[in-house]
Amino acid sequence: MSRTLLSIRHLEVPEIESLLQLSKEHKDRVLNGMPPAPAASRTIGLLFFENSTRTRVSFEQAANYSGYRVSNFIAEASSLSKGETLKDTIRTLRSERLDAVVIRHKSSGSAQLAAQFFGGPVINAGDGEHEHPTQALADALTILEHKGRLDGLKVAIVGDVLHSRVARSNAWLLEKMGADVRLVGPPNLLPAETGKLPGEFYQSLLPALQDADVVMCLRLQKERMMEGLLASVGQYRRGYQVNRETLMVAKDDCIVMHPGPLNRGVELDDFAADGPHSVIGEQVENGIYVRMAALSWVFGESLAPVKAKAAKVNA
Ligand code: NCD
Repeated sequence: MSRTLLSIRHLEVPEIESLLQLSKEHKDRVLNGMPPAPAASRTIGLLFFENSTRTRVSFEQAANYSGYRVSNFIAEASSLSKGETLKDTIRTLRSERLDAVVIRHKSSGSAQLAAQFFGGPVINAGDGEHEHPTQALADALTILEHKGRLDGLKVAIVGDVLHSRVARSNAWLLEKMGADVRLVGPPNLLPAETGKLPGEFYQSLLPALQDADVVMCLRLQKERMMEGLLASVGQYRRGYQVNRETLMVAKDDCIVMHPGPLNRGVELDDFAADGPHSVIGEQVENGIYVRMAALSWVFGESLAPVKAKAAKVNA
């Protein structure tokens, strides 16, 4: 049975739990030199219509570890530049016999559209301002490794909530798993209809960071901002930067996260980015394992066997 992974909002708690458990199993296997053997020969299309470093490389690494091949789609070099629609591009890729599609696109809802026309496994790697489910799973795995639970944790999600698919996927996931979600940012960078997202909204940083277990910074998404939305970067920094000083009100053992790419010195200072609270590098690495889990999950291969050679070494 194949599946799609398009959003966190539409996942049930047991599905989130099984994806996280599967990610952990993949991580253990990779770290023990026993990545899963491919259950079948499969080719995954990586369709990145927007720039990406972490997400693209970690999907490639996930495919490498799991023994899948990838076919990279370069938007500028494709027929899209000749005016082909997304729908026709996806239909073409179906005819090319790809087994799954991973898609990142600037339009909210593009992953859903891709799933409709591909008719097989599709993973959303970020659709506009909508969702980025594998990032939220990587973040949840990282939090679990540090805190041992999600339930009851105070999590502050800071910054450009309005434009952030990472904020949306994380808010849904954390709320479903019982965390106390706080969304904080300048009024212009918070959604107008706050009732559509789970969590409590704050316009001042310190009350949102008070006693926080997890402080999750967001990138200022200038490419999605209408002109004039942000008064000035300096003003943002003064009001909302996560730094040595503002972190004083959070728990002593709080962790600081950022999905990257970071505007160092704007969303967070060097202390927050590189100091003892930072888990940013771990988020990146966990991205590999959750994408391994996402691929095996959409293929319905939740119990992928250990590679025979590695198993012998272990025996
Ligand atoms: C995020 C994205 O592209 O949504 N980055 C990522 O995937 N790690 C966040 C961002 O670009 O701000």
